[in-house]
Amino acid sequence: MASVPSLASTVEQHIASALSAALPEAGAADVLLRRSDRADFQANGILALAKKLKGNPRDLATRVVAALSAPGVVQDVEVSGPGFLNVTVTDRAIVETLAARLADDRLGVAHAPNAGATVVDYAQPNVAKEMHVGHLRSAVIGAAMVEILEFMGETVIRRHHIGDWGTQFGMLIQYLIEHPHELDRSADADAPAPGTGSAAEAPSEQAPSEQAPSAEAGEAAMSNLNRLYKASRAAFDSDEEFKARARDRVVALQAGEKETLALWQRFVDESKVYFYSVFGKLDMEVRDPDIVGESGYNDKLAETCRILEETGVAERSEGALCVFFDDVKGPDGKRVPLIVQKSNGGFGYAATDLSAIRDRVGELGADTLLYVVDVRQSLHFKMVFETARRAGWLNDDVHASQLAFGTVLGKDGKPFKTREGETVRLVDLLDEAVDRATAVVREKAEKAGLSEQEIEENGRYVGIGAVKYADLSTSAVRDYKFDLDQMVSLSGDTSVYLQYAYARIRSILRKAGDVSPAPHPELALAPAERALGLHLDRFGETLAEAAAGHEPHKVAAYLYQLASLYTSFYDQCPVLKADTPEQVANRLFLCELTGRTLEKGLALLGIRAPERL
Ligand code: ARG
Repeated sequence: MASVPSLASTVEQHIASALSAALPEAGAADVLLRRSDRADFQANGILALAKKLKGNPRDLATRVVAALSAPGVVQDVEVSGPGFLNVTVTDRAIVETLAARLADDRLGVAHAPNAGATVVDYAQPNVAKEMHVGHLRSAVIGAAMVEILEFMGETVIRRHHIGDWGTQFGMLIQYLIEHPHELDRSADADAPAPGTGSAAEAPSEQAPSEQAPSAEAGEAAMSNLNRLYKASRAAFDSDEEFKARARDRVVALQAGEKETLALWQRFVDESKVYFYSVFGKLDMEVRDPDIVGESGYNDKLAETCRILEETGVAERSEGALCVFFDDVKGPDGKRVPLIVQKSNGGFGYAATDLSAIRDRVGELGADTLLYVVDVRQSLHFKMVFETARRAGWLNDDVHASQLAFGTVLGKDGKPFKTREGETVRLVDLLDEAVDRATAVVREKAEKAGLSEQEIEENGRYVGIGAVKYADLSTSAVRDYKFDLDQMVSLSGDTSVYLQYAYARIRSILRKAGDVSPAPHPELALAPAERALGLHLDRFGETLAEAAAGHEPHKVAAYLYQLASLYTSFYDQCPVLKADTPEQVANRLFLCELTGRTLEKGLALLGIRAPERL
């Protein structure tokens, strides 16, 4: 349970001591240790230091080398170029460090030093509406962020800010009152009631959303909601009297009239059946208490506006309560305000988000708020955050940021649409990914000796993993092409490639039988072993960076490189047929640690690693 310092940090410390011994006048100088192609590490800090001390960098570097004493860790250090230090570590240090990692159930990864409490706002679909690829991105990226932060010791509070409030409910509820059986799924004889999804339909026996409704129940719920949405919209647009009744219904809803609220609740519950079935398909845990939609902040809205107005953060303009920003202007050069209350008294998206900030900071005690939301909402969040800062709800100790993600594009590079120009249903996409993945798995299945049940299960893990990995493997803010052929390809930067690397490792370990993996620090390492070993040692650093910078793609990139380095190792270094029993054990040990690291890393990204593939 003890964290293991990385070789990079150990070397950095040794150089820092040598530096202060050789050049006491340098004070606390930065060593600036980097990875390097020429050696294991390169220290660049002496260049800046030489400038400061007005000395010759190569001379200073030579003095630092003379003062360096790191027996057992540093194999070789030389001055290179204008005054860099190239450092090579001993094979022994690599193996010993890795052995300590394998012995630890956190793989030696330290907790973040100043862990706090973060609210992650992600997976926020809208009631009575189909989920789309944007909702998928938020869910996948947000879930990975939650796992990474939690693993690093952060207290994470999940918030699914679903769109469950607004004037459209007037029309929907009024229509339901006039057509009371429109939401009955029991009319569909085969559709099970919510919460009765059988294990066979859930993504696995450890289905995370324990009561995930079946795919059928979810589909039935959504198709009713869709039909109702369209029918009520048609009535609203064509029938003036219905329109008037729908408007009155909005008033009743906002006044909290009982019957109206109960019907509103039916829409929310029905939508949740659908949401949970999709999250179940995505093999993703979403917990009911964490779903706090827009309506959850209704009782705070008036107060939020009152505070903003009283403190002068917001002002009345043409009847509306507005916040202005000097740098937010429209095409006409006039400032575009954030409207917190409309002139008719209604509250909108901004008032809700501001109230949510008060709740998350004041009541939940968070010091970081992270919003995993489409980049097209960036202006909204910029204005909301700035307003909250002016009001003092955000400050030097409490930060908010948006983890903005780009648009999902079709293969043709245009926003993702069907051939008929309709938005693609998320469920269809996921089903197709699983179908394609199952075909890929099936092709190799015979060799791996998989049963039909395993093929189907692996097909789901590979297909859903492929979709998640594609979302996570590029920097979030970039648009990306949704290309299923590429996603389930066995070569290249895909999750399947990582999953196969893992399965291959497990297969070798099974074949090893009684021969146990064991580190042998006395052995010399081949170049491919060193490269793999040094990369394995960087897992903790990578996670720390991904957590601090809210960049899950760094974990994906790390894992891809790990699998690539493992492939080279596997090609160049026979494992079970190595020369000596010690070498076999040591290579098995490298296999084992690589497997554990891959499995953990993939789990943080929400991707399963089957034992056999
Ligand atoms: N429901 C919104 C949408 O579908 C996303 C909500 C984002 N979160 C927030 N706190 N505004 O676009």
